[in-house]
Amino acid sequence: MTLAEFLNQLDELASSAQQQLEQAADLDALEAARIEFIGTKSGRLKATQKFLGEIEKTDKPAAGKRFNEVKTQIQAAYERQQQQMANNVGTGAGGEQFDPTIPGPRPRLGHLHPITQTIEELKNIMGRLGFSLAEGPEIEDEWHNFEALNIPLSHPARDPLDNFYLHVGETTHHQTLLMRSQTSTVQIRVMENTKPPVRIISLGRVYRPDTPDATHLPMFHQIEGLLIDRQVTMADLKSVLRLFASSYLGTDVHVRFRPSFFPFTEPSVEVDMRWNDKWIEMGGAGMVDPAVLQAVGYDPDEVTGFAFGLGIERLCARRHGIEDIREIYKNDVRFLHQF
Ligand code: FA5
Repeated sequence: MTLAEFLNQLDELASSAQQQLEQAADLDALEAARIEFIGTKSGRLKATQKFLGEIEKTDKPAAGKRFNEVKTQIQAAYERQQQQMANNVGTGAGGEQFDPTIPGPRPRLGHLHPITQTIEELKNIMGRLGFSLAEGPEIEDEWHNFEALNIPLSHPARDPLDNFYLHVGETTHHQTLLMRSQTSTVQIRVMENTKPPVRIISLGRVYRPDTPDATHLPMFHQIEGLLIDRQVTMADLKSVLRLFASSYLGTDVHVRFRPSFFPFTEPSVEVDMRWNDKWIEMGGAGMVDPAVLQAVGYDPDEVTGFAFGLGIERLCARRHGIEDIREIYKNDVRFLHQF
């Protein structure tokens, strides 16, 4: 390659580098132009440098001098452009001025999950009726989940297929532990530690190996209510449940009590509420069985009481017109955003 050809190539390189660096619209384009022209591995300047070896010995100093000038020139153009972009932060891509008076994008606010909202509302309603809050553990022993509730070892409700037993050894009372299958466990825990009268609610998670469908989940929430005093009757139970239902679901709700059986209440009822012309089972209730009162050291001749346990997902679904309770736990923000 002659000196003239070499200088020509350098001039051409210098002008196209200048042009591309100046036209770079953003930092990415600027970086791409830098790599193309003065990238140390395969930049075009580096490629031109190879021809330096072909230049006549006498012309070499002139060629080398020009090469270095062009290199400095491109490097300077790159740095100028980079500086300009840094100064322009706050200017839009089109170069328009940043207007500090325009309101910024609103941060998206999260909110409480519908079940948490439901729990809070149910607590408020029952609080106004004079019920205070009690809590119990989600990992329970068989005494609180079954025996004290009058569910003996032979009872089918204790079947391993209907419960999540835990293989973590036994408690001090040689009892297997399990994930509680109902919040009625808290009734026992409260009565064991409190003298009558008792007027509590307890809300929390319960676990059952149920196949998920529109009204069932393997993990769901219940609200438990327990009232123990002198001369409590079934009429009190029905009044409280009707008041509760109309406070949460509105005065047009229909409540139906169907005779049923629970080992820890006598008599027992199933509590249904009407929705979309259909009766939905919301829970169970009844007068606390004298055997349960005795198990916790109360005198059944002195005190009586009622208890109820309702499914919180079903209440929430009834209130909001949710046809399938599985939707509640899919974590689809478009769904959750509605509540
Ligand atoms: C009980 O759990 C009793 N402990 C209720 C009770 C308390 C009776 C106090 C008497 C005195 P049951 O298994 O029917 O009862 O469940 C009560 C409610 O929990 C059901 O009516 C339903 O609303 C809800 N429920 C039950 N299983 C599921 C499930 N797999 N998914 C969602 N909700 C459920």
